[in-house]
Amino acid sequence: RADLAGALDRLLGQGRLSEEDWRLLLNERKAADFLSELAPMAQKTAQKTYGNRIYLRGLIELTNICGNNCYYCGIRRENREVRRYRLTPEEVSAACAEGYAAGFRTFVLQGGEDPYWTDDRLRPFIQDLRAQFPESVITLSLGERRRDSYEALYAAGARRYLLRHETADPEHYRRLHPPEMSYARRMQALTDLRDIGFQAGCGMMIGSPGQGTDQLVTDFLFMQDFQPQMVGLGPFIPHHATPFADEPAGGIDETLVVLALVRLLLPKVLLPATTALATLHPHGHAAGIASGCNVIMPNLSPPSVRRAYSLYDGKRAFGTEAAENVALLTAELAQIGYSVAVDKGNHPDF
Ligand code: 5AD
Repeated sequence: RADLAGALDRLLGQGRLSEEDWRLLLNERKAADFLSELAPMAQKTAQKTYGNRIYLRGLIELTNICGNNCYYCGIRRENREVRRYRLTPEEVSAACAEGYAAGFRTFVLQGGEDPYWTDDRLRPFIQDLRAQFPESVITLSLGERRRDSYEALYAAGARRYLLRHETADPEHYRRLHPPEMSYARRMQALTDLRDIGFQAGCGMMIGSPGQGTDQLVTDFLFMQDFQPQMVGLGPFIPHHATPFADEPAGGIDETLVVLALVRLLLPKVLLPATTALATLHPHGHAAGIASGCNVIMPNLSPPSVRRAYSLYDGKRAFGTEAAENVALLTAELAQIGYSVAVDKGNHPDF
């Protein structure tokens, strides 16, 4: 216990830890009471920068067509059960207009690695959205692309990019992905994004097959070094038509502990209470916020395609996960003493 308290003090004091300290803390992630000790510290840390305010991002699932074949993911190339779709620019624009009226000032265009979305198609599309919604930010989450592609997207006006690293342990990366995918390429992509000037987001699933304390230690050492502006982090949840169909889901408390540790490591990071967390936890938003989260990403995709963006079984896309119910979400936040932030919500360093 004394060692643990020492490691926490060092984390709060210097914002970095040795490998041994991370191992000590992460080893406790499933222990009873660790969450109740950690969560208030993380929530206070978030409040120091953000007050009792939560950023909403409108999540638009641009396409579920994907050239990758990740073992965990329901929209992997080899899943023939899923109805594939691609939104048109008009549909996206209409979704953004609806979101804008509801108060959203960030639109996250997320999708599989769909070859249709070349730079030549994305560039005018992003420029049009920027012109239509000048007071808002375009975040992209479209997977790995060439550096010159990221440069083109930045030049077109996109300012944030989410690309989960999935795991910072190369062997674990190979356990989660087929051989044609590359840990080195993923890490290079993140470096490129950061160098170009994007607010960059990394992240990983909690409880993915093969993830133990050692893997999480490498994730924290990586994040401590990379200093991402955003971290996307939720539990692994199996999808029935993937190679990981029979693997157990990640734990809720374990996920909340890791979220709290991310907040303590990166006090100003933009940290969403993710849909995956809200899928497993009946009050996922409140629980995430109580562990240091400060962002929620309601689903702003046309309702007709939401079921098809099936990354994992049971994925929530309606109720308080849905952009059309922002009033419901606002009421839920009010109950825990929080309100919706109205500015663009950049990372304070940007
Ligand atoms: N469970 C939880 N998260 C998943 N993702 C993909 N599949 C799953 C799953 N089965 C996450 C990955 C990916 C993001 C789009 O969704 O981390 O980066």
